This record gives sequence, structure tokens and C-alpha cells, in this order.
Amino acid sequence: MININIINKHNILTKVKAPLGANLLDVIKGKGYNIDGTCNSNLECTTCHCIIDSDNLNKKLIRKSIRETDLLSTTTHLHKNSRLSCKINVIKEMENTDIYFPTMSKNTLEVINKEIQKKEKKIKKIIPKKFKNYTKSHIKDIFKRHCPEKKLDLDKYKAITSIIPFRTNNYVVEELIDWNNIPNDPIFNLVFPQTDMLDSIEGIDDFYDFYKDPNKDMITLRKEASKIHEKLNPHPAGQLDMNIPNNTDFYLENKGIQHKYRETMLFFPSESQYCHSYCTYCFRWAQFVGSSKDLINSNSLNYLLKYLKENKKISDILFTGGDPMVMNSKQLGRYLNALSSNPELEHLNTIRIGSKSLSYWPYKYVTDDDAKDMLKLLENTVNSGKHVSLMAHFSHPNELKTDVVKEAIRLIKNTGVQIRTQAPIINHINNDPKIWEEMWRLQINLGLIPYYMFIERDTGAKNWFGVPLFETLKIYQTAQRNLSGLAKTVRGPSMSCNPGKIQLVGVETINNEKVFALKFLQARNPHWNDKLFFAKYDETAKWIDDLKPAFGEKKFFYEDELEVIKKLNKEHLGTSGQLFQNDIKTAYSLVDNKVNYQYEILPDGLSMFPNRVIYDSIN
Ligand code: SF4
Ligand code: FES
Repeated sequence: MININIINKHNILTKVKAPLGANLLDVIKGKGYNIDGTCNSNLECTTCHCIIDSDNLNKKLIRKSIRETDLLSTTTHLHKNSRLSCKINVIKEMENTDIYFPTMSKNTLEVINKEIQKKEKKIKKIIPKKFKNYTKSHIKDIFKRHCPEKKLDLDKYKAITSIIPFRTNNYVVEELIDWNNIPNDPIFNLVFPQTDMLDSIEGIDDFYDFYKDPNKDMITLRKEASKIHEKLNPHPAGQLDMNIPNNTDFYLENKGIQHKYRETMLFFPSESQYCHSYCTYCFRWAQFVGSSKDLINSNSLNYLLKYLKENKKISDILFTGGDPMVMNSKQLGRYLNALSSNPELEHLNTIRIGSKSLSYWPYKYVTDDDAKDMLKLLENTVNSGKHVSLMAHFSHPNELKTDVVKEAIRLIKNTGVQIRTQAPIINHINNDPKIWEEMWRLQINLGLIPYYMFIERDTGAKNWFGVPLFETLKIYQTAQRNLSGLAKTVRGPSMSCNPGKIQLVGVETINNEKVFALKFLQARNPHWNDKLFFAKYDETAKWIDDLKPAFGEKKFFYEDELEVIKKLNKEHLGTSGQLFQNDIKTAYSLVDNKVNYQYEILPDGLSMFPNRVIYDSIN
């Protein structure tokens, strides 16, 4: 007899005694478990699927037949150590091994013997899962398997995924989407582009007609799709023409940095310009479909370090993408170790990592082969003295409810990394105050810091996803009303638009005029930060460009200066982040020979870039 640990689909562990040579499935049944084994070991079902938690042990077991391998490939929770238990005999090397039974079969491995039930104990074990990537070609199988009774228009789903990038995985499909709630399920809407989301775009019907043509060729299809892409504002908020440093030949050759705000630079590692699953509303979707000339990415450490050394007012770097957490610990470590150990980078306090991996693939931190190394890397980076913040993107409370995401959060927090949360407010997914209230409540329970509620950017299927500003504000205020002070860390609702991050603060009536009160949370010119300004109240407005200044003003206060910043960037004098790095003298040297400036100390004495003077000179 040997001891083995049986872990059922609820992560409950039971120790059982097993005779050597016995069939594993028979052992489980004999111990009072109600396990299906519906085909009587004839290799026709997969209800006896188990995962044997030991790489070495698997080499000692009877080899898998081709039939067993084929059958296993159809199961959920497939793992490299998956086996069908009806084909395994107990061997002495199994002593104290954990054997997981993860099947989705309704009554599999429930304990029916009361005596065994008493011996059960809750454990923090997560059933391992192997990442399975799903693309457009898998949609048919996914629908057939998870909702065969629903009449989803497969051709239209395929057509729309020729325009909007689609990619997801087995965790999202098996554990996050509620297939009984199709097509309304929020996570289904989050990852499966919906067939009517581009209906308001000119030319879309022609595209669908072309798609139906059985003789279409792929090259023309891609061309037709890119015509639609151009109509979807692929690079909003000046991302291509105002944020990328271009003030030297070196920076013109490299294109993996955006630097819009004085203190924070963004780095786009080439290795991570994709995600574990794509969001249908992604504002970076152009990175996944764009031509290589428009892609922002670099894997040059030299370029990254040079930039940081030259811009000493940068305190924060944000690794972004795509999702930097698709990188493994070795790839990410190349960057993090270089930043942690560099005496010339003492001005860099914070390393932020923008990621939706906790929502889309939390196994990364729990059971993946690289999980321990990744956690160690994060811990070492924290121990080097840098603050590390995972900017976790959660769109809906359902992403926070699985055991594996809770365990991933616990493990990451143990490394000393802080997790801050953010998401846009999106029609069809989370435009309800109850959803946000529940989401922030869950986040606080799990020790996360709510950080941003964004307004959907002016890109992609904005007409479909966008929520009017006045409604956004109501949702934010109603959700916040019922939460404690710990949820008041959220800045929201906020628009990440060309001039900066503009918060919608409230609606007021001033001098008999109903207005939106707005405020910069971050701005291209740091002097605009925290400044309140007002726009005419408009219930149709969904974005800053839809708003008009209040009180008869012709322009918002920042518009002229924004034009100057644009001009300077065009003249290769630097992005707004670079321009405001400099003390007044360096700033002047930057614009020397370009504009006829006059020396002037700014009234606030901050001796930052004198854009008012530049503005006067240029105009
Ligand atoms: S995780 Fe972020 S970058 Fe990736 S698809 Fe979603 S919004 Fe886009
Ligand atoms: S019981 Fe059906 S394959 Fe094992």
C-alpha cells in the first residue's frame, strides 16, 4: 500500500491508501468517490482525466497510446502531465504524489462516502493548466463545444475577426465565459468581437459582401480590412506623431518609447506586442494588425538605458504593449535587472508593468513552469530598491472570482509588488454601477488598489463601446457612494486624450449655465495639472472632442499651448515629456536657432520649459 493525494475539481485534497498494481480509476471509485468513468475504460470518454503532479513520475508510467493522446487533446485543463486514470496502474513511485481530477463533468469526483468527507481538508492547490491559444480558426469548434444550441452566425464572427484582432485561450473560454449567457455574457463581449459592432462604419457592408465571395484571395482581404482599420482612428491621442522621441538620428532609428508626461516614460518591448487574449475594445489594437512601419517596439537595452540616463526627471517607467507579462522571466529579467542594478538610474523610482495577465492567464504566476522564476524576479526587483507596481487591467468582477486568480494575486503580493487596478467603462461589458461597485469591493478584499476608471478612447468600435460622459459620471458616482474610503483611490472617470488625462469631476450650474467640471490629472505641460476648467453640458458627448468650452469661451485654456508643443515635436525638438525635462537653460538651447525666444523666468518659479515664451515667439 502507498499513500496518494487526490485533489478534486474544488481543490479539496484527500489522502488515500492505494494497493500497488491496482488500477488508479478503480482505487478512486473504491474509496467512495463518484467518478464517472463512463466508457468503462474503453478509451471513449475523458471523464477519468487526471493530472499527475510530477514530471519524473510520468516517465515511469505506462506510455500513452495514440488514442489516449488524442482523447486527452479534447479535454479541458489539459496539462503536460495529463493522463486518463483508467489506463494507469499504481506504482511505488507514486507515494505522496498529488493527483488532480479537474474534469468539468458535473458529478466527477464528488465524495459520496460521508466518512471520507470528514477527512477532507481545504488546500491552496490550483489544478495546473497548459496554455492553449485560440485564434479565428478555433471559433467554430469553441461554439460547437460550448454552446451548440445557440444559433450564432459563424460566418459573421469570422468576417469581423478579419478586421478586429481575435485571440483568446482555454482559461478564458472554460473558466471565465458563462456560455449559458451567450451572447450577453460580459466576458464573451470582452474577447469575441461582436457581429454588429462595426455596423456604423462606412464601407462595412461592402467588406462583408467581399468576405462572402468564395473566390476572395487573402491579400485583397487584408487590403479591404486595412481600409476599415483606417476609419477606426488606429493611433489616437497623438501616439504616433507626438509621443515618440525623434529629436536625434538615434531616436529616429529606434521606436519603442513614448514619452508624453515629464515623469513617466512608456517602453514597448518587442517580445510582448501581443496578449494572452485580446480585448475587443483594445485601444492598442493597431499594434496587432498594423503595418510594421507603424509598430512601436524595441528590444534594445542600449536605447532604453540611454534614454533614461538622458532624462533625469523620469521617475517612472511603464512597460506596456500588448502585455509585458507574456514575456517569460528570462525575457523580462533582461530589462528589469538592467534597470535595478544601474547606479546611473537612481532617479528611476518605480517600474510599472501594465498587464491583463491576472485576468487572462493567472496560471502564469501559479502553476506554469516559469511561475517560480517569475515571482523570484519580481521579488529581486523589489529588493533592489525599486517600487514595482503591476497595473492590472480588470474589466469585470467575474475576472476576480476564480481560485487561480486569487492565488496569483496572493503570490504576487508576497513578492512586495503592489497591484493597482484600472479599466475603461464599456457599453455591453461593465456600464452599470453595480458592476463597478462589486469589482472595486472585490479588489479591496483582495488587497488591490483601485487606480483608474477610464473613458473608452476614441478608437476602434468606439460607437459600439462608448458610454456618454454624463452617464459615465453617474455610474462612477453611484458605485462610489456605497464604498468605503479605501475605494476612493480611484481616479475617474478619466479621458486619456491628446493634451493629457482629463478627469470628469462633476456637473454644476454656474451663472445659470449647466457645465461639466473637468480637471487635468496628468498633462503634457505639467503646469496644467490639477487645473479645473469647464465645458458646456452635453448629453451626447462621449469624448473631449465632442465638448465645447463653457461661458462663451472659444477655446479651452490649453489649446494654444498644445499647438506649440505639436509644432516643436514636428520640428524634432522633442516630445512633451522631453521638453519639460529641462531646466530653463537647456530648454532654451534646445530651441536655439529654431525659434526666436526671449528670456523670461516663469511666474511660478519652477524654471521649467517656458512654453508661453516659445508660443509667443512662434506665433
Ligand atoms: S490586454 Fe490591453 S493591450 Fe491587450 S488587448 Fe486588452 S486592452 Fe489591448
Ligand atoms: S473511463 Fe473512459 S477513457 Fe477512462
